[in-house]
Amino acid sequence: MSFRIYKAKDYNDLSRKAANIISAQVIMKPNCVLGLATGSTPIGAYRQLVEWYNKGDLDFSEVTTVNLDEYRGLPRDNEQSYYYFMNENLFSKTNIDKSRTFLPDGMEEDPDKACREYNQIIHSLGGVDLQLLGLGHNGHIGFNEPGIAFETETHCVNLTERTIKANMRFFLSEKDVPRQAYTMGIKTIMSAHKILVVVSGEDKAPILREAFFGSVTPAVPASILQLHGDVTVVADEAALSACEGLV
Ligand code: F6R
Repeated sequence: MSFRIYKAKDYNDLSRKAANIISAQVIMKPNCVLGLATGSTPIGAYRQLVEWYNKGDLDFSEVTTVNLDEYRGLPRDNEQSYYYFMNENLFSKTNIDKSRTFLPDGMEEDPDKACREYNQIIHSLGGVDLQLLGLGHNGHIGFNEPGIAFETETHCVNLTERTIKANMRFFLSEKDVPRQAYTMGIKTIMSAHKILVVVSGEDKAPILREAFFGSVTPAVPASILQLHGDVTVVADEAALSACEGLV
């Protein structure tokens, strides 16, 4: 059982530490399966990985990636799709073989089919070696919002009014914001061999404390990670500011 929290000085330090852990995984097992996340927190880590790749220190040619989630109804070339994000931040900037990068198929109309096929992909890969996660303000991981059953695999979620409003700034109008998304479930996430969580900023301090030092409850989806055997949290001082005396 291993649960570590690394304290980073600031966002740059956090990004370097997280990138170090991801690159160690790629170096130790060049044909590994990386579980990836979008959102603002991992951007610095992706930038660092690209820098090391450009220096010749990293090779992604045998790596396979599976992402946590994708909006339902957005094509890959839509700037707000998670595929577009991954392509911009990592895929197009390294030698990752794009035929081995997987996200749920946002354009699959039939949610059951989309989710079943994504589960099959993950199972056929033999599981995820290292899953990267960000932490939502309400403790969500992927699009698994509070109240979600811990035993779910990939499923279709209705976005909450709050999430739709929060995402509105990226779209022309509220009606353009997708209402649903496909996401790996908690069970899928928990079956990864190793998990790396990145958390930055003072606004995440209360939820970081609740998720990792509070009780394990579906009301805080990330709290289930306390029961995983191999979790590393990399957080900056601001995000750890409510954990004085605990780390
Ligand atoms: C991203 C994802 C989300 C984010 C979370 C934190 O693929 O599934 O759960 O990780 O919302 O987002 P940021 O990093 O923007 O604070």
